Amino acid sequence: MQKLFSLTVDLGERSYPISSSVYPELFLNQLKELIKSGRRVVVVTDDNLIKAQSLFFEQIIGDVPTFVIPAGEQSKSLECLSTVYSFFAREALDRKSAVIAIGGGVVGDLVGFAAASFLRGIDFFQVPTTLLAMVDSSVGGKTGINLPEGKNLAGAFHQPNAVFIVTDILKTLPLRDFSAGSAEVLKYGLLADEKLFTKLSELNGLATNDECLPEIIFRCCQIKADVVKEDEKETAPSGGRALLNLGHTFAHAIENVAGYGEYLHGEAVGIGLVAAARLSSRLGYLSSEEVSLIERVVLAYQLPVGLRESLPVEALVTAMRKDKKVSQGAIRFVVLESIGKAITLEGVEIALVEDVLSSLGAV
Ligand SMILES: NC(=O)c1ccc[n+]([C@@H]2O[C@H](COP(=O)([O-])OP(=O)(O)OC[C@H]3O[C@@H](n4cnc5c(N)ncnc54)[C@H](O)[C@@H]3O)[C@@H](O)[C@H]2O)c1
Repeated sequence: MQKLFSLTVDLGERSYPISSSVYPELFLNQLKELIKSGRRVVVVTDDNLIKAQSLFFEQIIGDVPTFVIPAGEQSKSLECLSTVYSFFAREALDRKSAVIAIGGGVVGDLVGFAAASFLRGIDFFQVPTTLLAMVDSSVGGKTGINLPEGKNLAGAFHQPNAVFIVTDILKTLPLRDFSAGSAEVLKYGLLADEKLFTKLSELNGLATNDECLPEIIFRCCQIKADVVKEDEKETAPSGGRALLNLGHTFAHAIENVAGYGEYLHGEAVGIGLVAAARLSSRLGYLSSEEVSLIERVVLAYQLPVGLRESLPVEALVTAMRKDKKVSQGAIRFVVLESIGKAITLEGVEIALVEDVLSSLGAV
């Protein structure tokens, strides 16, 4: 019998289960139940995935009405959102209907936002199919799209009704996307679980067929669920959900200045984790040996530890100041007090940040 992992994201009346198994039988059973209950059910996915996983769609999804969006970040747009609304309207979804988002973070964020706003909110289920979506974007209820003015600028908190993780589906995920997702896995070990980080450092890399992968994915979901239940809407004055942004202040600046698409988000997070480690060391928290260990592990997971091409320090700092996490002009950094324990910090000297950026290859 296949092993099933499950947990509840504890959010009062918005609580929901996350179940993870290697094969899709459990999801298939739940899907049948949903359809049997007489509710109208539709699926949204993207064109890469439906091609790569044609058997999954044929055998599991069958004739459930399915809308296919173009794969890629550019689909997290107002234009694509509007095509999803039109599909919902054509399918005559009502308030009792349910939408299943099958895909990576792009599909999850877009469809989650469409479900949050269509008829002022309908149920949605997530079947994440990238490593990043399994450990991060499908958990926690942040949904949204990009505007021409910036990433994720329009969105809503809309928790899914359930998340089904089918790890076998990762077998068709391109290696570059898999590596990018592992940056978020490393992030969880660094910010909250030293044992997990030690295990990841001993493994020296992950592959889609690793026996330990389902358990590692599940541990990441547990960490995220624990953080989210304490601070669902990221309003804690310190710590809280913001801790999940370890490495992300640097990563968002790099993505923005390099031009979106130049680095995959997880690749920028890999560099961001190294930057956060170096900053933590400059602030007296981590030893240079710990920083070297983090760099070695990031590299072992096929992630960059520095900029591929130089970027201007000044533009990176300006981008950090514009990040939507900035509150009243103060950049809030997540630093490591030790491996496995992150804290938020305001008032970090910009000269230190500039030094760290230079060490990554910025000029
Ligand atoms: N909501 C959140 O909390 C949150 C957190 C982190 C990231 N995000 C968002 O997630 C997005 C990135 O998500 P992503 O990295 O999953 O990228 P993605 O959704 O663009 O997927 C990456 C590529 O992999 C393909 N793909 C997906 N699953 C596959 C599979 N099993 N086999 C073959 N191909 C597959 C997709 O078609 C796509 O081409 C960003 O927009 C980011 O802002 C959201």
